[in-house]
Amino acid sequence: MKTFDKILLTNMERPGYTGSLPDYEGTGGYKALKTVLGNVPPNDIIEMVKKSGLRGRGGAGFPTGVKWGFIPKDHPGPKYLCCNADESEPGTFKDRQLMERNPHQILEGIAISCYAIGAQTAYIYIRGEFRLATKILERAITEAYQAGHLGSDIYGSGVTVYVYVHVGAGAYICGEETALLESLEGKRGKPRTKPPFPATHGLYQKPTVVNNVETLANVPHIVNRGSEWFASIGAPPKSTGTRVFCLSGHVKRPGNYELPVNATFRDLIYELGGGMRSDKPLKAFIPGGASAPFLTPDHVDVQLDFESVALAGSMSGSGGITVMEEGTSMVWAAFRLMEFFYHESCGKCTPCREGSAWIVQILQRILNKQGRPEDLRTLAEICENIGGRTVCAFGDAEIAPVQSTLKYWRAEYEVLIEEAEALKVSRKEIPVLSVAQAREVEGSLS
Ligand SMILES: Cc1cc2nc3c(=O)[nH]c(=O)nc-3n(C[C@H](O)[C@H](O)[C@H](O)COP(=O)(O)O)c2cc1C
Repeated sequence: MKTFDKILLTNMERPGYTGSLPDYEGTGGYKALKTVLGNVPPNDIIEMVKKSGLRGRGGAGFPTGVKWGFIPKDHPGPKYLCCNADESEPGTFKDRQLMERNPHQILEGIAISCYAIGAQTAYIYIRGEFRLATKILERAITEAYQAGHLGSDIYGSGVTVYVYVHVGAGAYICGEETALLESLEGKRGKPRTKPPFPATHGLYQKPTVVNNVETLANVPHIVNRGSEWFASIGAPPKSTGTRVFCLSGHVKRPGNYELPVNATFRDLIYELGGGMRSDKPLKAFIPGGASAPFLTPDHVDVQLDFESVALAGSMSGSGGITVMEEGTSMVWAAFRLMEFFYHESCGKCTPCREGSAWIVQILQRILNKQGRPEDLRTLAEICENIGGRTVCAFGDAEIAPVQSTLKYWRAEYEVLIEEAEALKVSRKEIPVLSVAQAREVEGSLS
């Protein structure tokens, strides 16, 4: 693998770097904010981010500058920025590390983004389980206010940015941007029907940008080093920059690895991750969080960028790569993921609410060797009736493990169902003893 410069993890890999304000400032922190506030027109920053090719790191990969450009410039009332720190996608743990180890990088990104879209208030919506990250962020926000990097009239520029941390209650659906907004408003976290989109009717029905932690952390670097520099990294023009990939599962060295997006799964799994943890070969991997369809060893040379993974039949989603070795039951893997989705379905849409329960039941009976020959057709039909028929993308996400395991490892399902059939036959062949016969057997034993 070619050598490359890390962008987001550089600081935290420096020996002794604590993420405190002096540490961050010591490495050029808040230089980008100082450069732009009051000096660079907000629209120029939006154009800069558009040209950089930065795309959302939260899952959907939407172009960040384009999203910012949707915010109405002439809107008279408040506008909001929401930093999505919910990070609830199984197999994804990069935002947590970014928050815990280098919080000011995110705060600087938030301040610049607020200035670009004309928002004075930003909320960091953080998942409830991230207690340490919450404390660290809150301390960093206090430091930033005290040093004048946040607050009113920052550096005498007339620009005001206030940042608040809002702790969620640990629901996967609250990572979905509109459910996040509902939750932030104090309601039950359920997704909203779109349109209208948050850009015009977001938090409190005001223009709102929702961006992922990692997306926002990239912004100061784009300002400091230019959009051309960022756009030259990775797989331009559509997938640029680096991403922090979360490697987990049956590998020797799981962890967060920052890579340019034109690196391959092989680079990540075998070079950085040290390869498989035992002598067993690779069997399967999830390329972008639990919502992404499984891929196979045939796909290890696929690049990590959005387009290449989509072409391979999956998505790079949240950047969570979970590796499974030979010997893993793919029916079991699908079942475990499906249990999660069933538990987390918010219940708003019938296909998702009911369908996830049915899928869990069917997978469970297949695993219990009680599957029926018609089960595979039923599973496929349920998935078809969920996909594209729900308010949010949760529906599409939850069918991914089932559809992709049925596509690549159908034989494993069939073997379990055949075993169930065989058991049924042998069960029938065992004669049921009458009471008299049973007594006779009992008597012969005494
Ligand atoms: C069910 C569901 C869960 C999601 N969870 C997260 C999450 O935990 N963090 C996140 O950043 N985006 C999550 N997203 C994506 C967000 O809806 C949204 O696209 C993202 O926050 C936008 O930021 P970005 O453009 O910077 O990626 C989720 C989407 C869905 C459908």
